[in-house]
Amino acid sequence: MTLPADHPLATGRTASSRLVSAYRGVRGDVTPVWFMRQAGRSLPEYRELRVGTRMLDACLDPALASEITLQPVRRHGVDAGIFFSDIVIPLKLAGVAVEIEPGRGPVFAAPVRTAADVAALPDPADADFSPIAEGVARTVAELGDTPLIGFAGAPFTIAAYLVEGGPSKDHIRARTLMHSDPEAWHALLTWVAEVTGRFLRTQVLAGASAAQLFDSWVGSLSRADYSGRVAPYSAAALEHVRDLDVPLVHFGVGSGDVLDLMHGIGVDAVGVDWRVPLDEADRRVGARATLQGNVDPAMLAAPWPVLERHVLDVLRRGASARAHVLNLGHGVPPETDPDVLTRVVELVHSATAEQIAGVGADEGVQP
Ligand code: CP3
Repeated sequence: MTLPADHPLATGRTASSRLVSAYRGVRGDVTPVWFMRQAGRSLPEYRELRVGTRMLDACLDPALASEITLQPVRRHGVDAGIFFSDIVIPLKLAGVAVEIEPGRGPVFAAPVRTAADVAALPDPADADFSPIAEGVARTVAELGDTPLIGFAGAPFTIAAYLVEGGPSKDHIRARTLMHSDPEAWHALLTWVAEVTGRFLRTQVLAGASAAQLFDSWVGSLSRADYSGRVAPYSAAALEHVRDLDVPLVHFGVGSGDVLDLMHGIGVDAVGVDWRVPLDEADRRVGARATLQGNVDPAMLAAPWPVLERHVLDVLRRGASARAHVLNLGHGVPPETDPDVLTRVVELVHSATAEQIAGVGADEGVQP
């Protein structure tokens, strides 16, 4: 299948944007920039809109989700919007009882821990994604030439919540299940890949110009477990959009040991957290991918000269990749001063080659 004729990639509205070009491997004069979790609690206008509405209800209100998505694009002048939603929304739409506890994360009424629990999960084909399609369509109509990124959680990260019943450290129960009952694990990840893949496809068909798969908790896995028991299901999730030929991005936290494998499931760009410098990340993926990242979120609260130098250093190291999309190494911390984010966007858009080269001039000098 191809994209609908009025899709912004098909009409050409976003096809030559900085973001889409960079994801496709074309390096332009200006590095595109957006921030994971750019919509959300760092913005006073978001906090105001959210008063009295629960997180997942806000995601399922197309007008509200669209407005929240647009807020950071207007305020910061970033090169992309990312649709305001959550990785657990497809599960909720399929009929799984889940809520987001503020300050904690997704919490499930019934953890999924046995083959019988997996067999009792609802049929993903029955999920009605129309609030998502409508929210995306409204957003894309307002965004003009600015691309919207659609996203979904990868099967492992979602399973890490489902098996535990909520957030956990090291995702022990999920990692136990993958070995103690490989068949139940296979059934569970196959189910999640289906539901999360459908969620992603809905966003792309409704107008998203790129698709990012978040495997946030991949850092808890060995390489062997990642390649044998996780990556195939991430690839299966992406199969849901592969025929649509939109740029694909794959991101994880603590993913330094598996960057090449994350690229290997077949994506255009790899998102890198703050732990591995981009020139080293480029070596690890074998210089075949666009890299996205990797400003340390902790630096957002540092004095401006410190942050400025760090951002320029990220741009300098990002120059080793075929193309670079500047982002954070993980989401915007809620306490971030939004003016700092706007200033980072201005810096990235105006940075000159001399400025970027200059920051590396004293490399190798030990304090
Ligand atoms: O990036 C964006 O601006 C788009 C919005 C977005 C949200 N969640 C909104 C949200 C995206 C891309 C996500 C994905 C998501 N959700 C991930 C993967 C990305 C990552 O951060 O690693 C994960 C692991 C989740 C699960 C989840 N949802 C967590 C851990 C939390 C935080 C709980 C808290 O209160 O600290 C949520 C809730 C959530 N999702 C919020 C937002 C803006 C905060 C809820 C609020 O504002 O009340």
